[in-house]
Amino acid sequence: MHPALHHALPPALPNPSALASHWMLDSSVVMLNHGSFGATPRVILARQEQLRQQMEAEPVGFFVEALEPLLDTARSALAAFLACDSDDLAFVPNASAGVSTILRSLRFEPGDEILAFHHEYNACKNALLHIARQNGARVVIVRFPFPAGSSEQIAHAITSAITPRTRLLLLSHITSPSATLCPAAEIIRLAQTQGVDVLLDSAHGPGNIPLDLKALGAAYTTGNLHKWCCAGKGTAFLHVRRDRQHLISPLIISHGANSKRTDRSRFRLEADFTGTQDLSGPLSLPEVLQFLPSLLPAASWQAVMAHNHALAQQGAGILAAALGTSPALPRHLATSMALVPLPRHDDAVEARLKAMPTRYEDALQDRLLQRHRVQVPILRMPQFESETAFPDTGPTRHARISAQLYNSPSQYSYLAEALKVELAAECE
Ligand SMILES: Cc1ncc(COP(=O)(O)O)c(C=O)c1O
Repeated sequence: MHPALHHALPPALPNPSALASHWMLDSSVVMLNHGSFGATPRVILARQEQLRQQMEAEPVGFFVEALEPLLDTARSALAAFLACDSDDLAFVPNASAGVSTILRSLRFEPGDEILAFHHEYNACKNALLHIARQNGARVVIVRFPFPAGSSEQIAHAITSAITPRTRLLLLSHITSPSATLCPAAEIIRLAQTQGVDVLLDSAHGPGNIPLDLKALGAAYTTGNLHKWCCAGKGTAFLHVRRDRQHLISPLIISHGANSKRTDRSRFRLEADFTGTQDLSGPLSLPEVLQFLPSLLPAASWQAVMAHNHALAQQGAGILAAALGTSPALPRHLATSMALVPLPRHDDAVEARLKAMPTRYEDALQDRLLQRHRVQVPILRMPQFESETAFPDTGPTRHARISAQLYNSPSQYSYLAEALKVELAAECE
């Protein structure tokens, strides 16, 4: 342990909020990274266990008779939450699967262009590149206006790159490396006026920002429910606009493909059964969608989101003040995650830090966990795909903090102190 730690650290870890008892989180870790994988409350895990017991008590009856009505109920609850028609929703295990379902279903010709920002999630960029290589299509990567791009700049940057060859635009609703809320409605509108469909990757959307899928009108939207709604892992949706459903098949082809049923659309028949699996995550959605609101006096999702946004802002303020920087995002582009730039070291120190081994993107993250028991991502901005033609300017490292109902302001103060100690140690 660095000698400075003995003096600089508070004697004990900071308490989370009083609501943390609803989660199973390890009390020896200060969890400030809800954004990466979410965390599921005890009552939801209990509901999943109940469903698993029902499944295991009579597996054949469960899959043949009970599953469909349970799925219908879960899908209806989700449709009300997302303001869409439940017939246009499919459950998928995660947003990665939602993105790949669309990319693998659509047909691209050589020379077709797929447009995306360089701040798209790495896994989804990989999916784009894979599909493009298979079809001779081209992925056109556009520089994301960061830091401090306005909504208008963000919308203009991507839509002005549309050409007559553009077939699809992939857009993160909230970017992963920069935690920025993108103006999805405006981008979808502008793209559609030029005949380009949008695949909206709202991995961080549900439970974090209000979603009205009908009003957004994207051809394709995927979103995770295991992040900000706190559903069990493997709970996500894919929404396909009715006029595009004939183009889309699930990643796994199963009985629905030749079902003789006529009471449901082919899209539903294909999406609803993709082989034997544990669907306790999606089936728990009616309970999931009621649980977080029930923890606050106002008992609404609006209150949950407002609480988390305000806490993330407060946390960013605490960190920025301690580090002598400013939060990277204006309030209207930030959500339940906030991004705080770390002060820049000189080039020699930066080069040494970049070379340090890490399980994450930066060894500072490992040290914060090992020495201070804080779980928080330290992100380095992705470089523009065409090497460093447009290198990012400004601070290269940011702390991306999350705020969920179990977090407390003192946890961000604790992180600020830990960061000061570690940043000072990096220069030694
Ligand atoms: C923008 C974005 N897209 C997709 C994903 C992938 O989510 P999952 O791992 O649940 O598929 C993430 C995960 O953080 C993300 O931030």
